[in-house]
Amino acid sequence: MSTVPESISITEHGLELPVAEVMTGRGFITGKSGSGKSNSASVIAEGLLEHGLPMMIIDTDGEYFGLQERYKILHATVDETGDLEVGPDDAERLAGLALDGNVPIVLDISGYMDLADGKILVHRVLREIFRMEDARRKPFLVIVEEVHEYLPERGGHGELGELLIQIAKRGRKRGLGLCGISQRPAAVSKEFITQCDWLIWHRLTWENDIQVVRRLLGTDAADEIQELKDGEAFLMTDWADEIQRIRFRRKRTHDAGATPDIAEVTGGPDGNLEPAVLEALNIEGKSASSEDSEEDSVDPRDEKILAMQQRIEELEAELERSRNAESSQKIEEPQMAEAEGGFLITGIAELTSFVGHTIQVVTQRMLSAGRSLSRELKRQP
Ligand SMILES: Nc1ncnc2c1ncn2[C@@H]1O[C@H](COP(=O)(O)OP(=O)(O)O)[C@@H](O)[C@H]1O
Ligand SMILES: [Mg+2]
Repeated sequence: MSTVPESISITEHGLELPVAEVMTGRGFITGKSGSGKSNSASVIAEGLLEHGLPMMIIDTDGEYFGLQERYKILHATVDETGDLEVGPDDAERLAGLALDGNVPIVLDISGYMDLADGKILVHRVLREIFRMEDARRKPFLVIVEEVHEYLPERGGHGELGELLIQIAKRGRKRGLGLCGISQRPAAVSKEFITQCDWLIWHRLTWENDIQVVRRLLGTDAADEIQELKDGEAFLMTDWADEIQRIRFRRKRTHDAGATPDIAEVTGGPDGNLEPAVLEALNIEGKSASSEDSEEDSVDPRDEKILAMQQRIEELEAELERSRNAESSQKIEEPQMAEAEGGFLITGIAELTSFVGHTIQVVTQRMLSAGRSLSRELKRQP
């Protein structure tokens, strides 16, 4: 793992954000849907992950697990689709993995039908992290998507909102950074926004949101913000006098240089983690060394793993096909009804939908089982 730079680059032209400020400060990323918020958050996350810095992303829509393509980051889900299935009782375990194990984590709550369940889980996990940070004081960043859900401007904050305000106000001393993301700045608690020391404003078009921009960034920015292209933003920070208009890059970046305080938390995940976590990270991390060893291997166990991986790929393709079949169900319905001699005409829509869904569920289960087995095989001496 490389040494930690003082800053990470976020644009094609090398504009930088200071690592220490981002890791332990308060950030806010806003902009209407599709304006580039998640991309910007990912660029920042990738810049930090590149140097093994720990973080937890509270992912409401299941859009961050793609970070696994390049980085060792645990995809914790509330169902069986991730690396680790978690619920509120796992708060301590997750906080321990994050802070003591240096495991970056995507806490993906998209599997909950009801956001209230997500709030309970997130509250427990962040409460535990906040508590543990009192003693550990490790630089650690929490990124929270859809922060207006937890920190609304109107209607009271609830337990999780109160905790986030507490983190915003008292987290820095403990090394705990917080970055909130929302598409509606007008709907986010001003108590939070005014605590922030770095803010990224993507395109906004709603008058209420533009009023917030006018108040905080001025009239010129309020006029311009409606015309920003995807990925373009105003960057407003405590460390620069001017508000800058920038365009985020699309992907990751890295820089050299070292910051002693931050360096202490680098090195990536701890080697003594629970085996399931280590295996998950190994499989998904795709480090160059594991690819090399795969090519050279003659161990029959590796052949089994390869066969298993092949099977997983087949199942994944199967799953994709069944999803496609489900989405093109309307087109296929008449043909199927014809093939059945019109016998199933009335029930056919429900039936195809049911069968499609069942195939998906079964395939998903087989995939999970295949992945576990593959991990198990790898683990055997
Ligand atoms: N920096 C960028 N440069 C070019 N295109 C971008 C950039 N950021 C985002 N986009 C485009 O905008 C789309 C939406 O971005 P996303 O980050 O998902 O928006 P949001 O999270 O605000 O809804 C992306 O799929 C991409 O096509
Ligand atoms: Mg988004």
